[in-house]
Amino acid sequence: MSETNYNKPLLKNARKRSFNETIVSEYQIPLEIKNFGKNKKYLIQTHGCQANEADSEKLRGLLETEGFFKTDDLNEADLIIINTCAIRKNAENKVFGEIGRLKKYKVLNPNLVLAVGGCMPQEEEVVEKLLKTYPQVDIIFGTHNLHKFLEYLYRVMIQKERMIEVLSFEGEIVEHVPTVRENRYKAWVNIMYGCDEFCTYCIVPYTRGKERSRKPIHIIEEINELITQGYKEVTLLGQNVNSYGLDFVNEKYTFADLLKELSSLPIERIRFTTSHPKDFSFDLIDMLAKGKNLMPYIHLPVQSGSNKILKAMNRKYTKESYLNLINKIYEKIPDVSITTDIIVGFPGETEEDFLETLDLVRQASFEGAYTFVFSPRTGTPAASFIDTTPDLEKKARLYKLNEIVNQGYAKGNSRFLNQNVSVLVEGHSKTNPSILTGYSNHNKLVNFKGDDSLIGTIVQVKIIKAKTWSLTGELFHE
Ligand code: SAH
Ligand code: SF4
Ligand code: F3S
Repeated sequence: MSETNYNKPLLKNARKRSFNETIVSEYQIPLEIKNFGKNKKYLIQTHGCQANEADSEKLRGLLETEGFFKTDDLNEADLIIINTCAIRKNAENKVFGEIGRLKKYKVLNPNLVLAVGGCMPQEEEVVEKLLKTYPQVDIIFGTHNLHKFLEYLYRVMIQKERMIEVLSFEGEIVEHVPTVRENRYKAWVNIMYGCDEFCTYCIVPYTRGKERSRKPIHIIEEINELITQGYKEVTLLGQNVNSYGLDFVNEKYTFADLLKELSSLPIERIRFTTSHPKDFSFDLIDMLAKGKNLMPYIHLPVQSGSNKILKAMNRKYTKESYLNLINKIYEKIPDVSITTDIIVGFPGETEEDFLETLDLVRQASFEGAYTFVFSPRTGTPAASFIDTTPDLEKKARLYKLNEIVNQGYAKGNSRFLNQNVSVLVEGHSKTNPSILTGYSNHNKLVNFKGDDSLIGTIVQVKIIKAKTWSLTGELFHE
């Protein structure tokens, strides 16, 4: 078996960014490998954020153009891909555990191909560990070369090579990579790739490379196609959507400009994630207040309420400016639902700093939050910051924070009691197949009784019960 192109070191290269205009190229199916997946089954496990979910849909698209078809049964898979996330250590440990467990399937089926891709292989130490300890892995690829996956697979399946290819620099944007989406009614649409923020705790700028915005014309074309296919909702994806367009060299075109164009398209619902508070412009708030198909839901990660910690995190805003921003949003879009991300136990976080976070959470009226304990990531600045807070103390802070966050979830849901909400019906409830389920404009999970013919449509539901995590309602007939 031969091993190829593994450019080291990966993390160290990431800060050297070029300011050249990103090259945009067209995906081309490699000619020599037509239909080699006929009668073969694949299974993809996706970890991490929506960027990875969108990538997995591209992997599906690539595989299905070559005749592979999907299975959910590990026993019958000819190909298993783990699309990994590197954001926290425990996410990585889970993946290593999973690769260990998958070894037995290779014993049962020696032709089974096991591939590990996504953010973890962008870390040098991960590739080294995989090479040393996990010989069952046949393909290792990163985030910048996903579109070449079929070539790797062909070389492993047909030419019996082992393929390790991880690129340390982001390349071009490749348009028209075939995509097979998981959901028939709502779609992820990448508007940009990478991140230039370098928050000191975060590995994403290293695993995903520099910020590269897709051209508006390509985004509009993709959404128009989704509309033709019957999609009702799109979520625009970027690590910091508010800096969309800043990398265009000869053009001034912002995220607010993009939303303005997209809001005139005949798509029922537009969402976006993730917003960065430092770049959230007043223009954008005005835009959101006006656009009928722009959903009144904003995920606006704050990370901490302590100015000292925000500075150490390199977040470039203060508790006061964040509160100012969201008060502006509440003023212009009074019924908006805002959620956030918070890290506790960042190095140097004292009890006092933590209390600042709790105070901010109370003042901000969040209707939900993803909360995390800080996880040091090799190669990021914060990994070498002095951290003296005991783990138990960090867990206690997380617990306290979650109590308040959960009150926010409950309060956010209860305000819809006895009101009508629009729901995009996605299918049946997992716990009760006779119940239909979907999300409201404010991104609240709504369950109600109704006919299967409603699936894929937007209906009005009157809310009769508000729980902490979901709403229960009745179909509203005028
Ligand atoms: N681009 C988005 C999301 C990044 S990852 C943003 O800027 O918000 C999602 C969340 O994971 C982050 O918002 C942060 O709260 C959390 N996170 C990132 N790195 C982390 C780390 N090293 N330890 C704990 N949580 C982390
Ligand atoms: Fe990470 Fe910060 Fe970029 Fe978000 S904005 S992906 S937290 S570096
Ligand atoms: Fe994880 Fe990579 Fe997303 S590290 S959070 S999958 S960008």
